[in-house]
Amino acid sequence: RFDRAIRPKTLSDYIGQPAVREQMDIFVSAARKRGEPLDHTLIFGPPGLGKTTLANILANEMGVALRTTSGPVLEKAGDLAALMTNLDAGDVLFIDEIHRLSPHIEEILYPAMEDYQLDIMIGEGPAARSIKLDLPPFTLVGATTRAGLLTSPLRDRFGIVQRLEFYGVDDLSTIVARSAAILGMTLDSAGAVEIARRSRGTPRIANRLLRRVRDFAEVKADGHVSADIADQALSMLNVDSSGFDHLDRRLLLAMIEKFDGGPVGIDSLAAAISEERGTIEDVLEPYLIQQGYIMRTPRGRVLTAHAYLHFGLEFPGNTTGED
Ligand code: ADE
Repeated sequence: RFDRAIRPKTLSDYIGQPAVREQMDIFVSAARKRGEPLDHTLIFGPPGLGKTTLANILANEMGVALRTTSGPVLEKAGDLAALMTNLDAGDVLFIDEIHRLSPHIEEILYPAMEDYQLDIMIGEGPAARSIKLDLPPFTLVGATTRAGLLTSPLRDRFGIVQRLEFYGVDDLSTIVARSAAILGMTLDSAGAVEIARRSRGTPRIANRLLRRVRDFAEVKADGHVSADIADQALSMLNVDSSGFDHLDRRLLLAMIEKFDGGPVGIDSLAAAISEERGTIEDVLEPYLIQQGYIMRTPRGRVLTAHAYLHFGLEFPGNTTGED
């Protein structure tokens, strides 16, 4: 796989997210000048926007190693202790899905983040003892889909908090063109724009669609990706003109057909389409809300006229007013 090859390695290769890039460039330079580790950094945003990529870039820019783990895999205190005691000074410890840490692991993190102190219990029953160890100074980089999922004591211990935004078509086109060049494929600018337009503002999706469009172009044509070839390939993949996939359409159509456009509560919606509530909240609706297809109101989710228009339906209006 070429995931590694197309992942940017420096902030200057990182496309889009100008505020994040500008700030992190300053924070990294300052930390390096002082010979200190980068402050603990929380990165949040919907899946596929490059949280892991950014963590890798930060370690690379700091000239340190990156150790990766994730909230759900850290079950025992010893798992985290083993990772932390193996760090070298300045290293980055990356915890993906940090909102899924168990409470007792989270409590071990607090003194580790604040004072580089590891404070754990070993043994059980009468033989149990508490031991304290000094850790090397390190940077914790945490990633989560929504900052609101973190407990406030954990969130408060990050000195830097960055929110990744959905990418616009221009930035996604640049990302796709860069990936195509690394892959040695020919993609014209209209082809890049077509893929970018239909990638839900998400680089991971854009790069995945690029690979599938390449397959299509190599088998059904001469390998060159034009807007027309991209359109044919994406239509075959059931990615519609707005970039919605099967699941997006299922969600929107359920709101139209079963709930008259809303308002509908998230749990009713999840039951109606047999998806987990978390998938709707983290994966599906952020982009639909950002693009103005769905609104979140105190009484539930509501479709906009834009959503009806997408399916060629007349907007019946809805009861979004106050009671
Ligand atoms: N791949 C994923 N995210 C990227 C970005 N922001 N810039 C360049 N390539 C990427």
